[in-house]
Amino acid sequence: MSERTTALVTGANKGIGYEIAAGLGALGWSVGVGARDPERLEEAVGKLRAAGVEAFGVPLDVTDDASVAAAAQLLRERGGRLDVLVNNAAITGGRPQEPTVADPGLVRDVVETNVIGVIRVTNAMLPLLRRSASPRIVNMSSSVGSMTRQAAAGPGEGQGPISAAYGPSKTFLNAVTMQYAKELHGSNILINAGCPGYCATDLNGFRGHRTAGQGAQIAIRLATLPDDGPSGRFFDDDGEVPW
Ligand SMILES: NC(=O)c1ccc[n+]([C@@H]2O[C@H](COP(=O)([O-])OP(=O)(O)OC[C@H]3O[C@@H](n4cnc5c(N)ncnc54)[C@H](OP(=O)(O)O)[C@@H]3O)[C@@H](O)[C@H]2O)c1
Repeated sequence: MSERTTALVTGANKGIGYEIAAGLGALGWSVGVGARDPERLEEAVGKLRAAGVEAFGVPLDVTDDASVAAAAQLLRERGGRLDVLVNNAAITGGRPQEPTVADPGLVRDVVETNVIGVIRVTNAMLPLLRRSASPRIVNMSSSVGSMTRQAAAGPGEGQGPISAAYGPSKTFLNAVTMQYAKELHGSNILINAGCPGYCATDLNGFRGHRTAGQGAQIAIRLATLPDDGPSGRFFDDDGEVPW
């Protein structure tokens, strides 16, 4: 079994996921680059390796049971232990997604990727995480999923775009994160949600005011929590985010 700390980042071929992989790699970790497209996967692994990261490719579509099972098998064959899982892959689902006009199929697709995908990947990886001395799970969420901030926004205003899909999928993800933390309480696994802030990536047509590298920092912090660190909580760079 490898002595090197091993992480898996889903949706790591671009954006914040790529920067999380680069950041964890810079710690000297071995980083599994999860990506659903083989060419984008190969390109990202090549770039990370060129930057000195011990990166390896993990073909992974979070919506596909067989793909997730194959990813877990790949990690089992590589050493059988996973120290850190970063559930980063997500979609917005496109537009329109205002509740009164949202296509139910779009809402279903967003929840399938952003929530069910996280459960699918987490449960497939848990046997490998349980073999680590200090397992950490980081769920990349968003403050647009904060019910407290949604309630605080003015009438007719959202925290982010008004949406039946993307924002609520992150609320669902936050709730699921807390439920995992409750079930895993008493184990050495710490699981938290992180918000990267509004970062310029494909997800928002590069309109964010932060860089993807800045967005990756919260994930790196939650991936490297000490053994007495928090679990079942929601953080961004400024501290705790209200649920
Ligand atoms: N950017 C922001 O301002 C912002 C703010 C708050 C939260 N976040 C969260 O931060 C995380 C990263 O977002 P980002 O801005 O970096 O987005 P991004 O640039 O659009 O990257 C999303 C990544 O997820 C992958 N992905 C999507 N569906 C997938 C699937 N079914 N299986 C595997 N991979 C899949 C994409 O792969 P492909 O290249 O194949 O599509 C891509 O690698 C997300 O969880 C997002 O919700 C972002």
